[in-house]
Amino acid sequence: MSTILVRGGTVVSATGSQLLDVLIDGETIAAVLRPGATVLGADPAAVADTVLDATGKYVIPGGVDGHTHMQMPFGGTEASDTFETGTRAAAFGGTTTIVDFAVQTPGVRVQDSLAAWHEKAAGKCAVDYGFHQIVGDVTDESLKGMAELVDEGVTSFKLFMAYPGVFYSDDGKILRAMQTAADLGALLMMHAENGIAIDVLVEQALRRGDTAPYFHGTSRPWQLEEEATHRAIMLAHVTGAPLYVVHVSAKQALEQIAEARGKGQNVFGETCPQYLYLSLEEQLGAPGFEGAKWVCSTPLRSRAEGHQDELWRYLRTGDVTSVATDHCPFCMKDQKEMGIGDFSKIPNGIGGVEHRMDLMFQGVVDGRISLERWVDVCCTTPARMFGMYPRKGIITPGADADIVLYDPAGHTSIGLGGTHHMNMDYSAYEGFEIDGHVDTVLSRGRVIVGDGGYLGSPGHGRFVRRELSQNLL
Ligand code: URP
Ligand code: ZN
Ligand code: ZN
Ligand code: ZN
Repeated sequence: MSTILVRGGTVVSATGSQLLDVLIDGETIAAVLRPGATVLGADPAAVADTVLDATGKYVIPGGVDGHTHMQMPFGGTEASDTFETGTRAAAFGGTTTIVDFAVQTPGVRVQDSLAAWHEKAAGKCAVDYGFHQIVGDVTDESLKGMAELVDEGVTSFKLFMAYPGVFYSDDGKILRAMQTAADLGALLMMHAENGIAIDVLVEQALRRGDTAPYFHGTSRPWQLEEEATHRAIMLAHVTGAPLYVVHVSAKQALEQIAEARGKGQNVFGETCPQYLYLSLEEQLGAPGFEGAKWVCSTPLRSRAEGHQDELWRYLRTGDVTSVATDHCPFCMKDQKEMGIGDFSKIPNGIGGVEHRMDLMFQGVVDGRISLERWVDVCCTTPARMFGMYPRKGIITPGADADIVLYDPAGHTSIGLGGTHHMNMDYSAYEGFEIDGHVDTVLSRGRVIVGDGGYLGSPGHGRFVRRELSQNLL
């Protein structure tokens, strides 16, 4: 077992920042020390095997991205990052834990779909990983299976009000799954868009000849996100299940979440960098077929309507509880291109697992959120909500030594000259110039990114068995 001292940096937690040194013993954090403190009478720098100089840097818990889809079969193709390439990209971006989604399709037992996802990820990941379970077929057997999954460390379940014929659940199925989640104390995650109404609008748009990527956005209007969010909140209220609404992009949906939270209901909102930075007009509305790069659901929203600024505001109020990427990358070539002439055939998803920490740090630079809130929404709260705290999401004795040395004086150019490591032939954030830089990344005590290079290996990342969490406001 080797010891590492991270010395001279500012340790940032969700509640404060302090000049502190961090002593790592093997895979875990052994001590957090005032500068100059001794350990058993000795200068820790003199006895540690390695000393990492963090002077001028922020020392933060490794990022926890609670929403990714590595190599997910979707839209007639498969997300282009494997667990190997996607988790390596995550590492480069300062994310040391992902929670991906095992997908149950109709006729398959949830236990078997989870086993299939274990198979895909085992021995491949650069960083630690957990699974949520998508329940795509709510049956008596699936509901029974949920209890077994909780025992195996899969303590959250995603349902879809969108994608009829694929993952869609009707209200009765949603109600039953929520009752089961409430009984188990598990977290119910919801893709909240009214998929039945959307499918009609999509068909009408195509019939009118509105086939460009832009019309993906206009056929999924905010009203159908607000409506579904409200319905999910009410169904959760009836059942007592805690509800986590994923990838919220409409300000009106967040208003629903904020109102329910204001009344004390256990409802949580997740958003993603794409909804904070990108828009219907600028990206989805790009000339020709370019907009396909940003086809995802929920869709990017209108900047003229002010969704982005409102999402930032809700990040400050706490009604957006966490920021995940919904990393679901597809290349333009052969994948997004499937939808030339018909936006409904463009596979839905944006890749961004590598950029979340940097993009959200811009919120600190721009004065939209505090340094502590940055760590909270990117690291601590996702760890807590998904039953991994205090093993993940905080720098404290006994926690896994997942640590990022973040250089606020550094600079990161996104997407230019092939600077990203995701398996994508474009970047959704091409041209973004970031103040800040991920310098060094440790995963369970091992330096996996340092000196600008990758020092990790596939299979270092382990499956995280997650606990049930209380999920309280
Ligand atoms: O467009 C998206 N979000 N693709 C990933 C699947 C999902 O709905 O999260
Ligand atoms: Zn979704
Ligand atoms: Zn997703
Ligand atoms: Zn640097």
